Amino acid sequence: MPHVVLRNQRSFPADPATSILDAARASGVALEYSCRTGRCGICKAPVVSGETLMLRGEDEGLTAEEAGRGLILTCCRAAASDLTLDVEPLDRLAGIETRTIPARIAALERLAPDIVKVVLRTPPASPLRFLPGQYVDVIARDVRRSYSLANAPRADGLLELIVRRYPGGVLSAFWFDEAAVNDLLRIEGPFGTFFLRDSAPTHLVFLATGTGIAPVKALLEELAADPARAAQHRLSVFWGNRARDNFCWDPVTLGLDVAVHHLLSGEAAGWPGARGYVQDAALRAGLDPRDTVVYACGSNAMIAAARGALLALGLPPTRFFSDAFVSSN
Ligand SMILES: Cc1cc2nc3c(=O)[nH]c(=O)nc-3n(C[C@H](O)[C@H](O)[C@H](O)COP(=O)(O)OP(=O)(O)OC[C@H]3O[C@@H](n4cnc5c(N)ncnc54)[C@H](O)[C@@H]3O)c2cc1C
Ligand code: FES
Repeated sequence: MPHVVLRNQRSFPADPATSILDAARASGVALEYSCRTGRCGICKAPVVSGETLMLRGEDEGLTAEEAGRGLILTCCRAAASDLTLDVEPLDRLAGIETRTIPARIAALERLAPDIVKVVLRTPPASPLRFLPGQYVDVIARDVRRSYSLANAPRADGLLELIVRRYPGGVLSAFWFDEAAVNDLLRIEGPFGTFFLRDSAPTHLVFLATGTGIAPVKALLEELAADPARAAQHRLSVFWGNRARDNFCWDPVTLGLDVAVHHLLSGEAAGWPGARGYVQDAALRAGLDPRDTVVYACGSNAMIAAARGALLALGLPPTRFFSDAFVSSN
């Protein structure tokens, strides 16, 4: 069987019928990823040597130029020979196991006409271990959809989701028209590598569009639980929504010293605040790329635009973390 070797010489066997990402996970090695469907591009990895083969039809998260430079998506490709990749494993995920467990709806709260907060209760004997910022797949109505966990781990084990309605969506119809307290679902998780990294730079900048605020809330809760750590950082949140009702949570309620910027991109009659896109507002705020770490979550368009603009400003790519809410069907 082929073996994959990483930058730090860590290696693992990789069956040619299994994605490199899954083969790594099976050996307890965590690589950077988010969607697992070839759409977000977060699992990009440079191939130093060796051959890979495509397991899925499309790898839309990779441009032709990137493919030409030898980058691959580890969620889409398998090792066809021994392989060396220029990426590091993520040690903070060691010991976090992905499981499928039952979950009951403990509460449903409409936060805005098209946003609902869902609180899930898992069996007390088998709580879900996760890092703030990770997501789960909800399995219901014969489909599977990804939702970020909107809270840091809690003593009571409750899990919060912040769900947006997609017109015609299978699970949207469930959450908004059918779901009731005590309904039983299954969840699989945790997934994803959108979690706080140890960082020397002091300015932590969170960019969110729509319900992309969910994992940002979890990261801010983690900081709020550790005041000494939070005090080492300047915190800024730039949150964009098309409708004003969708600003349905206030980061200031966590008791953190955080500068919150609301950006409205849709109809704005009588809106007293700022208009436009989060990445433009962040740039206008005069970020210093030498002293900034960015966590961006929400639409792929915002993430791509923010990444391009901030890297052009001089932000190192290793200080831009993102989770794209691409379609999970
Ligand atoms: C890692 C990850 C985390 C996510 N976290 C959250 C979250 O915390 N909260 C949340 O509200 N959503 C989140 N999403 C998106 C969520 O999975 C979609 O909301 C879900 O696919 C919509 O499911 P549905 O069954 O309602 O619609 P579907 O039946 O899947 O689709 C209905 C229609 O909506 C379109 N559509 C579906 N999803 C999207 C999308 N994401 N962007 C644009 N068009 C779409 C489809 O193309 C289709 O036309 C996340 C996605 C990923 C990949
Ligand atoms: S493209 Fe591979 S994780 Fe999203």
